[in-house]
Amino acid sequence: EKGGYKHFMLKEIFEQPRAVRDTLAGRLREEEGDVYLEDLQLSDEQLKGIDRVTIIACGTSWHAALVGKFLIEEHCRVPVEVDIASEFRYRNPVIDEKSLVMLISQSGETADTLAAMREARRRGAKCVAICNVVDSSIAREADGVVYTHAGPEIGVASTKAFVTQLIALYLFTIRLGRSRGMMTVDAGRALIAAVVRVPALMEEALKLNEQVEKVARNYLQARDFLYLGRGMNYPIALEGALKLKEISYIHAEGYPAGEMKHGPIALIDEHMPVVVLVPQGSNYEKVFSNMEEVIARGGRVIAVCSQGDSEVAAKAEVALEIPTEGEEVAPIILSIPMQLLAYHVAVLKGTDVDQPRNLAKSVTVE
Ligand code: F6R
Repeated sequence: EKGGYKHFMLKEIFEQPRAVRDTLAGRLREEEGDVYLEDLQLSDEQLKGIDRVTIIACGTSWHAALVGKFLIEEHCRVPVEVDIASEFRYRNPVIDEKSLVMLISQSGETADTLAAMREARRRGAKCVAICNVVDSSIAREADGVVYTHAGPEIGVASTKAFVTQLIALYLFTIRLGRSRGMMTVDAGRALIAAVVRVPALMEEALKLNEQVEKVARNYLQARDFLYLGRGMNYPIALEGALKLKEISYIHAEGYPAGEMKHGPIALIDEHMPVVVLVPQGSNYEKVFSNMEEVIARGGRVIAVCSQGDSEVAAKAEVALEIPTEGEEVAPIILSIPMQLLAYHVAVLKGTDVDQPRNLAKSVTVE
C-alpha cells in the first residue's frame, strides 16, 4: 500500500507531480487564457460583484491561503484578508453580501473551518471551498467547491494536499481575474503556461531527495531552526517550519526575512540552522542580503536557491538548487525541499513520521 516507500509521507511527496496533473486535468482553456472550474457555481456577474475576499483555514491550509492572498491581489486587484478559522470565529469580522469567503481544507471536516463558514454564510457571504475530500461537510455546505485531486492523503503531515491547494488557488485566481476583466487573455495564458510546467519542475526538484537526506544528517542535533522567505515564499518558510515541528519535534519558526532584524536575529549563533528561501525573482537581492546578515553572525545557512546560482552556493553552508524558471510558481517548487528536509530529519531521529504524537489527520473538535 505504501508502493515500496518506507512511509506514506514519502510516497505522497513523490506522488505530487501526478496530483498536480490530476488537479489541472480538464480545467484549462489555454486558448482563452481561462479555466473551467466545474463546481465553482459562481457566475461572472457574481464574481464581478464581490468587493473583498477572505480566505479562512487552519494549519498547512492556512499557509496555502497566505500564498492565495498574493496571487489574488496581484492578478485580480481585490483586497484579500487571510484568517485562521479559530480566530475569525471569535471576532466580529467585516463580512457581508459583497464578500467572497474561501475556505481551504484538505479533509473538509475541520471543525473551526466549518464553523467559520457557517458564520460567514449567516452574514450573507458567498462561500467557496477548496477541499480534497469529495462530499465532506465543508464541501457540501459551501456554495461552490474547487476540488483538489490529490487523492487520499494518509500521512498526518500534509504534503500533496498542500501543493494541490496551491494549484487550486492559481486556477481560481485566473478565473476571478478573467471574469472581472482584471486579467488579459495573454496574462491568463502566461499563468496557465507557468502552472502547466509545474509537474516537470517538481520531478526535477524531487531529484534532491538523496542530497537532502545527507544534509539532514548534519543538522539532527539542532534544537531550533529558523526558516526565512519573502513575498510569496514567506508562507513556504512557515510551512517548512511547521513540517519540521510536526514530525521531527524540533522547534522551528518561519519568519519574513526582512523582519528578522526586528528580533529573531538575536537568536542566531553557530547552533542554529537557518533555512533561507532565496530563488531568483523580484525579492532575490533583498533575501540574499538577509542571508549574508545571518552568515555574518555565525548562523549556519541551508539555502534553497535556483539551479546554477553559484553566488548563493559560495556563501551558504548548503545550497539546495531547484528549477525555478520564472518566479510565478516558485512557492510550489520550494515546498519539495521543505518536505524532504523535515521528512529525513524525522526519519533519522526515529520518530513516527506518518503518525506524529498528539496529532490527528482531521481535527473535528473546536
Ligand atoms: C499539517 C496539517 C494540519 C492541517 C490542519 C487543517 O501538516 O496537516 O496543520 O493542515 O489541521 O486541516 P484541513 O486542511 O483538513 O482543514
